[in-house]
Amino acid sequence: MNCIYLLLVIFTSGVLSQIPIRMKMPDEAKMTYTQIANKYGQEAEEYDVISEGGYILKLFHIPGDRTKPILCVHGAIDSADSFIMRGNTSLSVALARDNYDVWAMNYRGNKYSRRHTKMNPDSDQEFWNFSAHEIGYYDVKAHIDFILKKTGEKSLSVIGYSEGTMAMYVLGATRPEYNDKVKILISLAPICFIRNTGLFMSLVLHMAPILNVGLQAINSEEVGGQNSTTRSLIKEVCSEKYSGYETCLLNGLFLVTGSDPSEIEPAFFPVIIGHFPAGTSRKNLNHLVQISQHRKFSNYDYGLKQNMAKYKRPTPPEYDLNKVTMKIALIVAKNDKISTIKDVEKLRKRLPNVVEYRVMKSDAFNHVDYVWGKSTHKTLFPHIFRILNKYNK
Ligand SMILES: *[C@@H]1O[C@H](CO)[C@@H](O)[C@H](O)[C@H]1NC(C)=O
Ligand SMILES: *[C@@H]1O[C@H](CO)[C@@H](O)[C@H](O)[C@H]1NC(C)=O
Ligand SMILES: *[C@@H]1O[C@H](CO)[C@@H](O)[C@H](O)[C@H]1NC(C)=O
Repeated sequence: MNCIYLLLVIFTSGVLSQIPIRMKMPDEAKMTYTQIANKYGQEAEEYDVISEGGYILKLFHIPGDRTKPILCVHGAIDSADSFIMRGNTSLSVALARDNYDVWAMNYRGNKYSRRHTKMNPDSDQEFWNFSAHEIGYYDVKAHIDFILKKTGEKSLSVIGYSEGTMAMYVLGATRPEYNDKVKILISLAPICFIRNTGLFMSLVLHMAPILNVGLQAINSEEVGGQNSTTRSLIKEVCSEKYSGYETCLLNGLFLVTGSDPSEIEPAFFPVIIGHFPAGTSRKNLNHLVQISQHRKFSNYDYGLKQNMAKYKRPTPPEYDLNKVTMKIALIVAKNDKISTIKDVEKLRKRLPNVVEYRVMKSDAFNHVDYVWGKSTHKTLFPHIFRILNKYNK
């Protein structure tokens, strides 16, 4: 979604300067999850997890106490990198230092998980036929199975961020037996109902169907991919030394997500641009838009004819949140324009087992601070550790 907005910014502002001067790129901007972990003294391993349907997904692991596995699930158009970009003060490193067994997945279609046993993402459009449904139903499930087998544990804890939380609600609703495998789901910036968003996010949601038709018309099933024109344009505009920060963050992304410039300093911004966007499918973003427009947490809407064939009904069925019986901690923020308190309050009423509900104290805390914020290790992590101490048993 953020990516769609960035696209708009780029097309409308026309700020491509003739002689761009690049920002100084910190090492972290070009490093992988594993390389950043190593830099901060954490030995990381990489696994390939094969999800049902043949998707080959990259799973990062920082080994710790095997009895305390934690799975981190990233947000839309993003990757596991967001959980480690802040290096010494990132969530991955903090969890590892506390001897948790840290696992960070990459769901299908992002830069780490753009592989398949049979299909070629560059030529097979069917590769991109997925949304939060497949991410939850197949990919997260495959990772839980993999981690429980590796550790010999019966259950694990999960930290989901943004769309990563939605994938967990899909899993709990569609495979109820997996609720018992989750000790606690910490939902950072929960996404389920996307109705009362901020002005710019609402604007993006309104424009999205037009963009969706356009992308479909040009067979552009991948959005924000590593080698895409979108991504090179974003890199071009956003890493311009004198205007990049202002154009892309202050007058760009922040309008959509909520803003706090003190939490994302100019020196750190190039690291974000180095890792984000990490790519996903048009269909994944379209599913989020549909959920917003239908005002329902429902399955993907294929249109009348295909819905009849697939669901045996004209409209897609809703996911049954009553079946999501795992313990859930919801963490929300006042300045988050995408996961708003109003929408999460609705989710809170519908989920049967919410054990914690916390509104971040700062008035400025917003959608991106959970993973990218400068002082998040001081303002958010203590809550995460407290919750894990209580429920990760
Ligand atoms: C990271 O933090 C640890 C502990 O606070 C410190 O000892 C170390 O020097 C830091 N490493 C880097 C590369 O900043
Ligand atoms: C980008 O292109 C390079 C060179 O063709 C290729 O090796 C790499 O796998 C591509 N990466 C992604 C994520 O598409
Ligand atoms: C995409 O996948 C769904 C089921 O997962 C299937 O019903 C549909 O026909 C597929 N669409 C295309 C265009 O292949």
